[in-house]
Amino acid sequence: MACGEFGPGRMAEPLEIVAAIEAALAEPTVLPLPKNSAAAPKSGKALAGKHVLVTSGPTHEAIDPVRFLANRSSGRQGHAIAAAAAEAGARVTLVSGPVAIADPQGVATIHVESGRDMLAAVEKALPADIFIAAAAVADWRVAEVGAHKLKKKGGAAPALALIENPDILARVAQARSGRPAIVVGFAAETENVLDNARAKLLKKKCDLIVANDVGEGTGVFGGKTNLVHLVSKSGVESWPSMDKAEVAARLVQRLAAMSERGQ
Ligand code: CTP
Repeated sequence: MACGEFGPGRMAEPLEIVAAIEAALAEPTVLPLPKNSAAAPKSGKALAGKHVLVTSGPTHEAIDPVRFLANRSSGRQGHAIAAAAAEAGARVTLVSGPVAIADPQGVATIHVESGRDMLAAVEKALPADIFIAAAAVADWRVAEVGAHKLKKKGGAAPALALIENPDILARVAQARSGRPAIVVGFAAETENVLDNARAKLLKKKCDLIVANDVGEGTGVFGGKTNLVHLVSKSGVESWPSMDKAEVAARLVQRLAAMSERGQ
């Protein structure tokens, strides 16, 4: 464009270009039918007519106007799930913390910073048929956010008092009215993966927990592959390590089958 900021000649955002190239190069995913083939979706649009709400990415909890607490979540898995649900015909709302990847195509994406912002955006986006909490919400936020940049005073570092953030997944799963028919949580663990996942399933009252080991050397945070275990009241199903897009496609297929069964 010779002048101006907007118009048909403006280059697309680089991250959108990368996402479009990745989508164009992606191998078509061939998935085996679920064991109960009677419950298998009959068409490619297995989630047509459903509203799927997904959280993704980390949250940033402000310390002062220039600093924040955060975690290593890249948002890749949550974004891939939102994209797969849209591909399956659902209307998808994605509530994303700060990430460096593009918004998935065909998904209404709401950008938030903190855990409390994420909760507010989720509550606003409800009702939904399926809720998937893939975000790594910060467990704690700073009790008193500095109005100005904290300055060094003498040698003593400031003591940051932390308070617990609201648990978005537990709130949605335990809502007295308008609870989504299917509520899925994630459990990112560094030890006792399955025991911790089972405990989260019961404590938060969700229908399914997607558990994974994010310990050092697994490469899950920021990486392109994931090794997950599906934990439900009926048991554990472990999947081999695969691309996050394939985890997303399989999970969506599983949720469509659950939805069709009325669970
Ligand atoms: N979660 C959430 N809101 C929070 C904390 C967690 O919605 N404030 C959701 C996550 O999106 C995930 C699940 O709860 O789906 C489990 O998150 P995780 O951080 O593994 O578990 P916590 O409940 O925070 O427990 P802990 O950190 O002690 O393992």
